[in-house]
Amino acid sequence: MQARLAGSEALEDAVRLLKQGGLVAFPTETVYGLGADARNPAAVSKIFKAKQRPANHPLIVHLASQEQMRQWAENIPTLAWRLAEEYWPGPLAMILPKQSGVPLEVTGGQQTVALRIPDNPTALALLKQFGDGVAAPSANLFNHVSPTRAEHVLAELGDRIDMILDGGDCRVGLESTIIDLTTEQPVILRPGHITIEQLSRFIGQSVTWAQTPASSQNRASGTLALHYAPDTFCLQLQSDELLERVEYELAHNKRIGILSRRRYPVISEQLVWRVMPDEPISYGHDLYAALRWLDQQQLDCILVEETPDEAAWLAVKDRLSKATAAQSDEQ
Ligand code: TXA
Ligand code: MG
Repeated sequence: MQARLAGSEALEDAVRLLKQGGLVAFPTETVYGLGADARNPAAVSKIFKAKQRPANHPLIVHLASQEQMRQWAENIPTLAWRLAEEYWPGPLAMILPKQSGVPLEVTGGQQTVALRIPDNPTALALLKQFGDGVAAPSANLFNHVSPTRAEHVLAELGDRIDMILDGGDCRVGLESTIIDLTTEQPVILRPGHITIEQLSRFIGQSVTWAQTPASSQNRASGTLALHYAPDTFCLQLQSDELLERVEYELAHNKRIGILSRRRYPVISEQLVWRVMPDEPISYGHDLYAALRWLDQQQLDCILVEETPDEAAWLAVKDRLSKATAAQSDEQ
């Protein structure tokens, strides 16, 4: 299997494979998605198998146009249309009451459905030519780091899927913001590039982030701890603790990776640095590729410097705390 550049022939093949019930990975502006025909339960269940993801975790249905919303959702509130007008195509997924025909395989057995129009030319061309909804989670193994390049998908899922459309590097790099519009007040289920402040301002009331799902029925797998995690032991530390910990690990002959926004004055062959941008949008863009790269350096552990406690860093902080969750709990 090869990742194929998204030309017209590759797109035609991708559409044919989707129609035949196959799995096609494709780029979006956030991360690569693992797509299947959302009307075809057998195709959708292949996604869960390939990802080794529990079947009760709902998927996002990707659409090409706002009009298609009516084919997937019902009782659509005015706010959903306003949000679609403002942010679609873009990194916002909306949870709405599902149309009766939407397979429960897609919604993890729930009566709600997640919808979004991605802002990526390859994704939009694919969705338009396919002509209906494409269910797609991030194209990674369950609980692993999301892919932001075709090569990440190839390395992780290449032998389990039918095709990868290569559309280059994902512009945003973090998964979409998820807003639940089925509750009395809109609730954020996953922070992302479109911030809670932006949404609150646009909606005209303050929107809250449900850090733990309101009920076990309303499952967002992005809300589980130990999501987006590399295989290497990963620990998050405050800036002023970092240097001390580095020296401790080096003294114990450990080979360590560091993800930080500046380089500290320590030199050792046992040390692999990944210096990150000191600005949340670029940091978010680089994060998953950096974690994947560090994961390949045969390290005993990865030390992650905490990011600033500011609203603009929320999505990055959320993903970092999930990448380091289980390990930090063990400490
Ligand atoms: O940026 C993105 O959203 C990417 C690209 C490929 O579009 N997709 C993505 O999918 O991140 P996934 O499956 O990795 O995350 C989708 C999240 C999950 O946390 C899932 O539980 C939640 O959306 N979700 C989907 N349907 C839902 C529903 N009906 N109620 C609550 N959460 C839902
Ligand atoms: Mg995911």
